[in-house]
Amino acid sequence: MYVGVDYYPEHWPEERWRIDIALMREAGFNIVRLAEFTWYRLEPSEGQYELQWLEQVVDLFEENDIAVVLGTPTAVVPLWAARKYPEIMSTDRDGHRTEYGVRKDTCYNSRVFNLMSDRIVERLTAHLGEHRNVVGWQVDNEFAGPKCYCVHCLSAFQHWLQEKYGSVVALNEAWGLHFWSHNINDWEEVRFPNALWSNNPGQHLDHCRFHSDVNVRYQRRQVETIRKNSPGRFVTHNFMGFAPELDYFDLAEDLDFVSWDNYPNFGDVRGTIRSDGDLDLEPRIRASAAADLMRGAKARSFWIMEQTAGPTGWGEFGRNVWPSELRNIAFQQVAHGCDGMLWFRWRTSTAGREQYWHGLLGHDGEPGRRYQEARTTALELTGACSGIVDSDVLAEVAIVFDYDSRWAFEAQPAYSGCDYVQSVLRYYEGFYRRGINVHFISSRAEFSKYRVVVASHLYVLPDETASRLNEFVKTGGVLLADCRTGVKDETSLCHARTLPGLLADSLGIRIDEYESLEDSFIYDVRATRGHKTYSAGLYSDWIRCEDATSLYRYTTPHVGDFAVLTINRYGDGRAFYLGTIIREDAFYDELAARLLTAARLPVPKVLPNGVQVRTRCTAAHLYTFYVNHLNREVEVDLAHGRDIITDEAVGGTASLGPLGVVIVENERNGEGDDDDE
Ligand code: GAL
Repeated sequence: MYVGVDYYPEHWPEERWRIDIALMREAGFNIVRLAEFTWYRLEPSEGQYELQWLEQVVDLFEENDIAVVLGTPTAVVPLWAARKYPEIMSTDRDGHRTEYGVRKDTCYNSRVFNLMSDRIVERLTAHLGEHRNVVGWQVDNEFAGPKCYCVHCLSAFQHWLQEKYGSVVALNEAWGLHFWSHNINDWEEVRFPNALWSNNPGQHLDHCRFHSDVNVRYQRRQVETIRKNSPGRFVTHNFMGFAPELDYFDLAEDLDFVSWDNYPNFGDVRGTIRSDGDLDLEPRIRASAAADLMRGAKARSFWIMEQTAGPTGWGEFGRNVWPSELRNIAFQQVAHGCDGMLWFRWRTSTAGREQYWHGLLGHDGEPGRRYQEARTTALELTGACSGIVDSDVLAEVAIVFDYDSRWAFEAQPAYSGCDYVQSVLRYYEGFYRRGINVHFISSRAEFSKYRVVVASHLYVLPDETASRLNEFVKTGGVLLADCRTGVKDETSLCHARTLPGLLADSLGIRIDEYESLEDSFIYDVRATRGHKTYSAGLYSDWIRCEDATSLYRYTTPHVGDFAVLTINRYGDGRAFYLGTIIREDAFYDELAARLLTAARLPVPKVLPNGVQVRTRCTAAHLYTFYVNHLNREVEVDLAHGRDIITDEAVGGTASLGPLGVVIVENERNGEGDDDDE
């Protein structure tokens, strides 16, 4: 396994390089990422290239058996370039050109910027692409920069639409421009969505797609140059978990694997500690879900290109990592399919905006507690755990993550408090608490690979996707859909159908009316069999069962006729629909169990609070990870096998230390069986 750090030799005197490298070696690190913000150092003035210093650093690492990932330096353009070619800077919504001084502030539709970027990437990759010690590349840094509203982008947007729709008549129809007489006669009349244009939902959705495509295309230019000049090396990019700007399934397409930057809520001192003084679990669950999305973007294992190393923040910084926490954060990601990890950053910078974004070493450069813990972790990962690399993360349960729906909600959240990620996470957490592996998939994915598919808030639902979901159920799958699923077509016009539209076939329900609820307002909900009760809020579909059976219904009088949770047998499968948001976590634990049961999958018990269980496997072995996210001992029921870290036999009731990790290895006893127990 590759384990190491993000290193910025250009921030430190040359005499220090050897000391740093010796310490990294001593820590068992075998990889560093270099150069992703060095454009000025590589090209201090136009056309004058200085690549020797970087080659010297790559050589030094080679002498010390530490491999190098090079970042292309295009995330920050040098000031000389911004002054000479002002049009390369992006333009904000109000038409103001971005002032130089931060990063990610150039225009990807500027011809000049693209030429400059091509040139530096060509130079760098031609010079170091075949260096023995360069094993891979990171393209740019954290794509997603703000949307640019310059004239070049406007004309690119118009062309993009022209290619997509062919005629202005089709565009008028797709965006519903007859409304308020907004019709256009000519492509040049297309504007960016803005307040004056009242954020036409279709226009907003297409603009988000366009912005995503622009980034994907810009990345592709670099990928092509890298592949030409640096054959055999991997190409990746550092994604940002649940960041909303880009369709990560598309961005992943040209890459060998996805990397991502994991900072589980350290910048803010608030909200990371519970009232009982222990660690808040929410950021950990989110990091877990983000890891699954990152894995899902390419449907394969991923790297952490920037892993939390200490307190983070720009103006203010958050809390420190507690003893054993750095290791805990690292192993959580490995449990999800992480096969390479670099801490950000090696040493805390004494300069610039990130003086408070702490590295493994402080400003003083002394190897302290965080360094020692990273060392222990690195030695475990590259030693005892090395057999895990390339192992798979199998899952029978998939959650659809749909950027179109997410973007469509940005323009019209529909109900107050609607949060797309949160809506997906409610179901995710039900599976998480039972230790079930989950895949995130795009709405274009093959559903039949899974036994359970959760399609929460699938707001934008083209007919073709609805038909595939129906077919999935008909042929034996278990589907869960919920609030606002299927409201919109692919251009964000509302389907002119009674909800849930085409999904009525599999769901067997009819929703004639629905409503949004005031934050504090609660509907009482009761099981149709048994006595379980819950409280519902924020939103309510008034569901009538046609073929479906109601499992929960409202008891609040005026909605007492309507179902809350329904199940329908359709073909060989079952389709569930939940028409509200239930407040209690226990409901989602129960729902996960119902879905697993309907799919004839085993239903593991809800885990002790704070404990996470996940599995990875090779053809021969199953690895079960037990990660304790609380700073106290917790009792767990371990699988019987070998603890790969201690190399001891384990099994049965055992105590998991504060923030501790156990990985149990056993033989796989069957073909493709990925159950948790
Ligand atoms: C990441 C970024 C790094 C660094 C870090 C701390 O998002 O990729 O370059 O800025 O955050 O802010």
